[in-house]
Amino acid sequence: MIRPARPADAEDERAVERAAGARFGEIGMPHVAAHEPMSADMLIGYALGGRSWVATDAVDRVVGYVIVDVVDGCAHIEQVSVRPADQGKGLGRALVARVERWAADEGFSAVTLTTFKDVSWNRPLYEHLGFTVLGDAELTPELLQIREEETRRGLDPGTRVCMRKQVGPTR
Ligand SMILES: CC(C)(COP(=O)(O)OP(=O)(O)OC[C@H]1O[C@@H](n2cnc3c(N)ncnc32)[C@H](O)[C@@H]1OP(=O)(O)O)[C@@H](O)C(=O)NCCC(=O)NCCS
Repeated sequence: MIRPARPADAEDERAVERAAGARFGEIGMPHVAAHEPMSADMLIGYALGGRSWVATDAVDRVVGYVIVDVVDGCAHIEQVSVRPADQGKGLGRALVARVERWAADEGFSAVTLTTFKDVSWNRPLYEHLGFTVLGDAELTPELLQIREEETRRGLDPGTRVCMRKQVGPTR
């Protein structure tokens, strides 16, 4: 089930992200695996702002979550994570679809995100969900800022891509 996140979900969301991120350690990216999730206070802000949804199990335990920013007039997936034991069951697709619905309802034309180009469960998965890679010339000012911030955080920009999926009329 997908429902809006509540402030009380924040620590569970952080636990999901730590567990999901561990997968990067298995493919030689320990720095990504070790990256700490954002603070509970920030996650509470997303919940209160109506820009966060969780996937839950039968007893309402959080097993996945997604948070969204508004970037250059598009809904931008800041983070999406599903607990390893629950991956491959359609929850990632459902969380992304929830964001697409929200974006369309809010009148945004597209959903964007940044991700790893060569990690199988990143770019190829999003391509499967209908996202396309943006060329450098297509990057809007705030997307460029996000790329620069990622580089400052130690991510090699050559390994990253910005992706976009149209969900409404082009403006
Ligand atoms: C990315 C992530 C959220 C996906 O969650 P998930 O619950 O496993 O995703 P789903 O089971 O809904 O799969 C989504 C779709 O992608 C497909 N898919 C899975 N792996 C794929 C791959 N390597 N290449 C192409 N498509 C893939 C699935 O088959 C599914 O398509 P379908 O619904 O048509 O069968 C999850 O893998 C995760 O938490 N990863 C670690 C954290 C992370 O990398 N987050 C993203 C940061 S940008």
